Amino acid sequence: MKNSVVTFQQMKEKGEKISMLTAYDYSTAKLEDEAGVNSILVGDSLGNVILGYEDTISVTMEDMIHHGAAVARGAKNALVILDMPFMSYQTSVYDAVVNAGRLMKEGRAGAVKLEGGLEVCPQIQAIVDAGIPVCAHLGLTPQSIHAFGGFKVQGKSEDAARKILEDAKAVEKAGAFAVVLEGIPKKLADLITEKLHIPTIGIGAGNGCDGQVLVYQDLLGMFSDFTPKFVKRYAEVGEVMKNAFRQYMEEIQSGAFPAREHEYSMDDDIIEKLY
Ligand code: KIV
Repeated sequence: MKNSVVTFQQMKEKGEKISMLTAYDYSTAKLEDEAGVNSILVGDSLGNVILGYEDTISVTMEDMIHHGAAVARGAKNALVILDMPFMSYQTSVYDAVVNAGRLMKEGRAGAVKLEGGLEVCPQIQAIVDAGIPVCAHLGLTPQSIHAFGGFKVQGKSEDAARKILEDAKAVEKAGAFAVVLEGIPKKLADLITEKLHIPTIGIGAGNGCDGQVLVYQDLLGMFSDFTPKFVKRYAEVGEVMKNAFRQYMEEIQSGAFPAREHEYSMDDDIIEKLY
């Protein structure tokens, strides 16, 4: 069944947990979709895990559209959400609507995600008014990493926690259909989940959220530049890949690959004429 923002709301109401994973290409999206993941996020984390940047700041609209459209082609049932990259919505409400529209039309998104609270509520409202579903993102928002002074857990003090709670209520009021809560204490995420009518999707926010999201390379052990505390590795695919790459190299050296079954044949009398 095709998942939509309506499915998200129904799942929260029924107490069913929402599963979300990132993907950035057709083949991975197809595998996640076939596994039954509810939603695929084409995160701007593609800046880190696909393009090799240190942060998400350099990711462009063209990057998001290029990868988003590939994921959309692979996802039959999952709701595909595309991240709005840095400076594609902060600059003005107009820019936000135009760029959200491009992610829908050219990137084939089912919804868009942007980072921030009260300060981006006019953008959320205008995008929603244009008929585009918006997922908000609060807490350790990676596009603000330079303002935070690094990847630090957010919302630990009373003021900081109150601000995130107020931001969560504000994005809900502005029309967001869900909110990602990243890198905040579990107790704060639990409280926000209880106070909001829309689903919360946690990443480093404990198991009380209405759903969870992870970067798939973290979950599969494919990315070793840094591993946050909240990541659980479900497989060591990076090791499996490296072993397969090594075996491939060895078999090229030994002549074991390609074998007879990998060859194409032709008639001897034809090849003899060419000698
Ligand atoms: O960019 C991303 O992948 C994200 C998730 C980590 C929530 O925003």
